[in-house]
Amino acid sequence: MTVAISPGKIILLGEHGVVYGKPALAMAISLKVAVDIEIASQYMVNSHPLEERKHVYIKRAIDKLWNGSPLSITTFSQIPSASGLGSSAAITTAMTAALLAMRNDFSKENVARHSFEIEYEVQGMASPIDTSTCSYGKAIMVWKKEKQGYIWSMSKNGSTWYVYPFDVPDVSIVVGISSIKSKTPKIVKKVGKFIGHSSFAKDLLNEMETLVTEGVDALKKRDFIKFGEIMDKNHKILYNIGASSKEIEKLIMTARKAGAYGAKITGAGGGGSIIAIGDEPEKIREALKEKGKDAYIVLPDKDGVKVWK
Ligand code: PMV
Repeated sequence: MTVAISPGKIILLGEHGVVYGKPALAMAISLKVAVDIEIASQYMVNSHPLEERKHVYIKRAIDKLWNGSPLSITTFSQIPSASGLGSSAAITTAMTAALLAMRNDFSKENVARHSFEIEYEVQGMASPIDTSTCSYGKAIMVWKKEKQGYIWSMSKNGSTWYVYPFDVPDVSIVVGISSIKSKTPKIVKKVGKFIGHSSFAKDLLNEMETLVTEGVDALKKRDFIKFGEIMDKNHKILYNIGASSKEIEKLIMTARKAGAYGAKITGAGGGGSIIAIGDEPEKIREALKEKGKDAYIVLPDKDGVKVWK
């Protein structure tokens, strides 16, 4: 039996821009996914035969990393799917970690590399931010700029990203989940069309780059009020490049009215989730729940992916 546990993630700042080499900051969160793998007589997932369409990330991980006997896989998840909280990245990193451990080849860097390849193949376009954050834990900044202190770099189709660790302070973040599923590849394509045709959008991405570097400084100083202001500015840009929706705007307004210092989309958007920061996270969570939405308070996960054999 091999068990792997991976945290989910939230993107604190810079989603979408990161696809085009701009910086983004993500944090691993206390909501997790686990997989338990055992040798079996046929491929099974949660006691049903493995189906390529239904278990696309699990199937890709097996195709890439396993040529031994069939496996029975059991999954457990605290992360709602298609909510922008990294459920697919977490299942991919947990599967990858377990299979690498079974081959005696486990390291967080190896997990991050293979998981990025899998996400990229499945989604057609992705940055390594989700999979690197789930693998490493704490917080991660991904940027095309090479500076001192990166833990690994990833290249794909002419783009290179450098992955920097960031020792995030203990901070409570409120997550509000909309009832609309976030379809990452669809929104990434939609935003990409706009960016490809508009110099205004390119200016917005440059502005986002400045916000991410300012946000990193604010977090280092534990200046959560400033960080909230930066989240608001980042959200405005995400709205302008087409990543928001009516439903998301309602959640953002609810969080702000409940006293948030700032609130924004997290992840690709369209639907999915928002994040908010404030000195009374419970009040923000309750306000979101009163609107009938699932809401959580999450903390940084410090461990990243873990595996037991
Ligand atoms: O929707 P999520 O949580 O998978 O986040 C996507 C983040 C993007 O920047 C929009 C795309 C990417 O791969 O970086």
